[in-house]
Amino acid sequence: MKLDVCSQVPASGDVVLFVFKGGEVPPGVTSHEFEGNRLSTLLWRENGKRTLYVGLGEDPRPDGKPLPLDLLRRAAGVGVKALRKLGVEEISLQATGFEAQLVGITEGALLADYVFEEFKPEASRRKTELKRLNIVVARDEVRAAEARVDEGKILARATNEVRAIGNLPGNIITPEALAERARNIARDTKITCRVWDMPKLQKEGFGGIIAVGKGSANPPVFIALEYMGGAKKDAPYVVVGKAITFDTGGISIKPAANMDEMKFDKMGGCAVLGIMRAAAELKLPINLVGLIASAENMPSAEAYRPGDIVTTYDGKTIEVLNTDAEGRIVLADALAYGRTTYKPKLMIDMATLTGAVLIALGHKRAGLFCNDEPLRKALQDAAESTGEPVWHLPMGDEFTDQIKSDVALAKNTGGREGGSATAASFLQMWAEDVRWAHLDIAGTAWTTKELPFLEKGATGYGVRIVLQALRTLAEAE
Ligand code: BES
Ligand code: MN
Ligand code: ZN
Repeated sequence: MKLDVCSQVPASGDVVLFVFKGGEVPPGVTSHEFEGNRLSTLLWRENGKRTLYVGLGEDPRPDGKPLPLDLLRRAAGVGVKALRKLGVEEISLQATGFEAQLVGITEGALLADYVFEEFKPEASRRKTELKRLNIVVARDEVRAAEARVDEGKILARATNEVRAIGNLPGNIITPEALAERARNIARDTKITCRVWDMPKLQKEGFGGIIAVGKGSANPPVFIALEYMGGAKKDAPYVVVGKAITFDTGGISIKPAANMDEMKFDKMGGCAVLGIMRAAAELKLPINLVGLIASAENMPSAEAYRPGDIVTTYDGKTIEVLNTDAEGRIVLADALAYGRTTYKPKLMIDMATLTGAVLIALGHKRAGLFCNDEPLRKALQDAAESTGEPVWHLPMGDEFTDQIKSDVALAKNTGGREGGSATAASFLQMWAEDVRWAHLDIAGTAWTTKELPFLEKGATGYGVRIVLQALRTLAEAE
């Protein structure tokens, strides 16, 4: 696909036009047909050319309010997705006046064009591909626009790669297959990648990852990616991801309904892959480490069991009361490894950790838990512009009381009440005093409903918000 920035709408291809409420519409169009309401659309044909009007709602700027960055991202997505459904192969986005929003516009357009269809029969796949995307801007903005479009392209492609891996099922993406994806990304971007197999995990004491993974015929792995874009002596930032390639619940097995969705239990780890690729391609001036704890949670003769006591990388002990609360167990090892190996500036983990976060916050917002104010603020600020909203939730003694164990440092469940907060408070014991944030992405990592700007399946949630927060924090240093 060719992505081009130009200062005039080319003669070929169809057009996406953004209009505020009350803005200019084709002559004769009534307000019943199209008013410019937020993300509403009107398809207009004239002289063999199609124009898709996409409404932006009320223009907030006359009231002194900024234009929400995510609005243009979604509007571009709505436009591209609708035209692609009509089989359009060349699209021009009329972005004049929206040059400041071009990173988001490019992201929205490219995210909207991704579909997961590699296993569909030929006849039911898309018949056309998007061959050309033109982004039209004011003449004197072309140079600046190109840089923003390049950045949006890197971010969107990394996110689409995360979605493409995420949509693959458990029989294809095993922990070892995920490691192979990590190696490929490392090769592409010239960063380093190390993978711990079962013997190495055993030798080095990754008791949590081993416990969760040993019930599966597909052995667990731990993956470390290192990008050195900063000064050699600088401590790195560390991002950590839960990658359960399939979560049956193990011996505490899940009910059958919707269990297939647990192929998405690897999305935290997949997001780490996208973050590492994009950080390297954007040449961010920081040192960044990506850690992925990957296992398949299966019931079997070898599986770990309720009552087991597990010793993690740093010697701390966990009493397993429910083998379905496996994410925190593998993350304990990863957080301990990150904390002790790198003495990091800070750590951010992403995990599809609890069903409870879905009950609390639904499908749009991730749960944000954090022990550090500037880090919390950086993530909250980033969320607004990247369109990956978060909500800050509490941790601490009131929750750790629920996971006190009689036989180990902590139990791996604290009951149903405050389920996301007890899980986060559990993780905090392994982060210790490192500045740390945890994003519970169980509600946001995939969508079972098709959205106007996104296909169903993995969303790639986490790539943009974490990168944006890291950039802000690095600049403030
Ligand atoms: N991967 C699940 C969390 C999950 C559930 C994500 C549903 C998305 C949708 C996690 O491993 C899990 O099973 N958590 C349990 C914890 C409980 C046993 C304390 C849960 O949320 O029910
Ligand atoms: Mn589970
Ligand atoms: Zn899980």
